[in-house]
Amino acid sequence: MSSVVATQIEEHKLYGGVVPEIASRRHCESICAVVAEALEKAEMTAEEVDAIGVTFAPGLIGALLVGVNYAKSLAFGLSKPLIPVHHIRGHIAANYLAHPELEPPYMCLVASGGHSHIVEVLDYTEFRVIGRTIDDAAGECFDKAARAMGFPYPGGKYIDEASKLGDPTRYSLPDPHTQNPYDFSFSGLKTAVINLIHNAEQKGEQINANDLSAAFQHTVCKILERKFIAAAREKGYKKIALAGGVAANSGLRASLENAARENGMEFFLPPLSLCGDNAAMIGAQAFYEFQKGHIADESLNAFATMSIDKVRF
Ligand code: KG4
Ligand code: ZN
Repeated sequence: MSSVVATQIEEHKLYGGVVPEIASRRHCESICAVVAEALEKAEMTAEEVDAIGVTFAPGLIGALLVGVNYAKSLAFGLSKPLIPVHHIRGHIAANYLAHPELEPPYMCLVASGGHSHIVEVLDYTEFRVIGRTIDDAAGECFDKAARAMGFPYPGGKYIDEASKLGDPTRYSLPDPHTQNPYDFSFSGLKTAVINLIHNAEQKGEQINANDLSAAFQHTVCKILERKFIAAAREKGYKKIALAGGVAANSGLRASLENAARENGMEFFLPPLSLCGDNAAMIGAQAFYEFQKGHIADESLNAFATMSIDKVRF
């Protein structure tokens, strides 16, 4: 009914990445105003809300604790059910807001700053991870490569923009091997970008950031596409979806759209506004968790790590 996002990126940009202590403080300062604005935009009072959903895992613990404690107080004060939501389940649920016709089972590729997963969505609250990154997440790799190229944090969107002006064939980058064919490994790719830049600097040569961005984005998208589509084919899925901050990437959106068409698969993806972190997607997943009776009490805690298929609270 409304979606309000408070961003603190400008402040973290100064440090080239998220500073956890600053993140927690800004959450404390913003949370009351964000909730008030969301209610105002939805033209609702807090009493009219059915339940309170909150992200409780995984993520930066300080920021999660602010949300969990605020939600606990709100739920207790209003006598409303408290619904703990797993962050990655929320990313996947962004698809239900955009495509109410999408129903499990289907296969989802989740690519964010902290995760790269190939997940079977067996039901709204039942998941099976069949591939994950063994080192860096896709978004993390975008951000580190972008930093090496001199783009501001978080660099994923700058690489995306620069790629549109570049030639992807001018630089060649590795396609790292993984033992499980559906796992990902991105740290070698990041190192290859850094080495390429250093070698050029030592020879006094200029790197073309547009061409390197295009080569990098093309390589990451092809790896994600190849493994995801192979997994969907092997498991016999005809419906596939994309989720997470990296789902905003124009190259990934286009290459998966093509691959889905070529393989006769239906492809779902969130609008750009619901790809990055937002509370609407958490509300969407809370709706399904609530229906399954996944309700917490005031002892709810936050967790920095938790697998999407092993949620406990
Ligand atoms: O899901 P998200 O908002 O936060 C996490 O849960 O991590 O994902 C953030 C990540 C960052 O690494 C950011 O660079 C990346 O998503 N990202 C992109 C694009 N927009 C955001 N990566 C590639 N292309 C984009 N257009
Ligand atoms: Zn996220």
